[in-house]
Amino acid sequence: MIDISKEEYIKQTVEQYLREKSKIVDEAMQGYLASVNGSTEVLIEAMKYSLFAGGKRFRPTLVFASVELFDGDLEKAKLVASAIEMIHTYSLIHDDLPALDNDDFRRGKPTLHKVYGEAIALLAGDGLLTLAFELLGRTGHPEVVVEVAGSAGIKGMVGGQFMDLEAEGKQIPLQKLKEIHRLKTGSLITVSLRAGALISNAEKEDIETITEYGENLGIAFQIVDDILNVVGDAKKMGKPTGTDEKNKKSTYPFLLGVDKSRELALDHIKRAVDSLHKYDTRADPLRNLAWYVIYREK
Ligand code: IPE
Ligand code: IPE
Ligand code: MG
Ligand code: MG
Repeated sequence: MIDISKEEYIKQTVEQYLREKSKIVDEAMQGYLASVNGSTEVLIEAMKYSLFAGGKRFRPTLVFASVELFDGDLEKAKLVASAIEMIHTYSLIHDDLPALDNDDFRRGKPTLHKVYGEAIALLAGDGLLTLAFELLGRTGHPEVVVEVAGSAGIKGMVGGQFMDLEAEGKQIPLQKLKEIHRLKTGSLITVSLRAGALISNAEKEDIETITEYGENLGIAFQIVDDILNVVGDAKKMGKPTGTDEKNKKSTYPFLLGVDKSRELALDHIKRAVDSLHKYDTRADPLRNLAWYVIYREK
């Protein structure tokens, strides 16, 4: 580790960690989907098209990292990680539809509605969302079902998507944009960590800590997503750039410029890392994941 900068070190370490966790969650999701078949074959194929298109598996990895920190059960972690990735993937399928962001590429491939049509894209999203809750129910932790439902729904991601839609074409105050980011992206990121802690029966204090970490991480994650939409490489990201401007979205770079946005994202990352101060090296994966959010190019 002598000749390599912190940025390179974090990128390599985290990409390796993400690969490791992707393998576990992908295998689990393949298993959960294998049992469904019959006359819905095309629908399952469509769900798999988006699910296995090459997402980073950032949220499932957060579930595993949280469960590792709090000594939880791997089988329960697989159920939760799969469920949250399914909810996330459904949100992307619907987000890309012509009625919402109208995007043609996602995860390096044409969007689901471009290949299977809008009707199947809607149903594939519905199928992923409902299967997710079946998996969550199987953890035997009703409090996790309630939490994830809240974070994915109107108090969370769906609510944020609605506010994002309403804000199109308007210049909104920064405080409101932050609220949109907190809801549309932050809530699923935070609940990945909280659910990991809950299935591990973590202490109340630990759950509070992981929540503070997640909230800062989530905001930073979406600020960086906005920045990459302006300065990123579409090929690396597997989705088009410049679309926020096209859709007249209020974003951090639009309101503040790229440099100031990056500064703010960095500020949230520092706060996320600081909130983990009471943990030893067992929290290093979470620390590294936080730094990765700033350094990521995809
Ligand atoms: C993209 O999420 C949408 C946002 C909430 C910013 P990711 O950047 O995690 O997308 P995938 O899962 O890797 O495709
Ligand atoms: C995605 O937000 C957040 C979701 C809940 C799907 P964006 O619309 O900003 O994300 P990308 O850039 O399409 O991935
Ligand atoms: Mg959107
Ligand atoms: Mg979008």
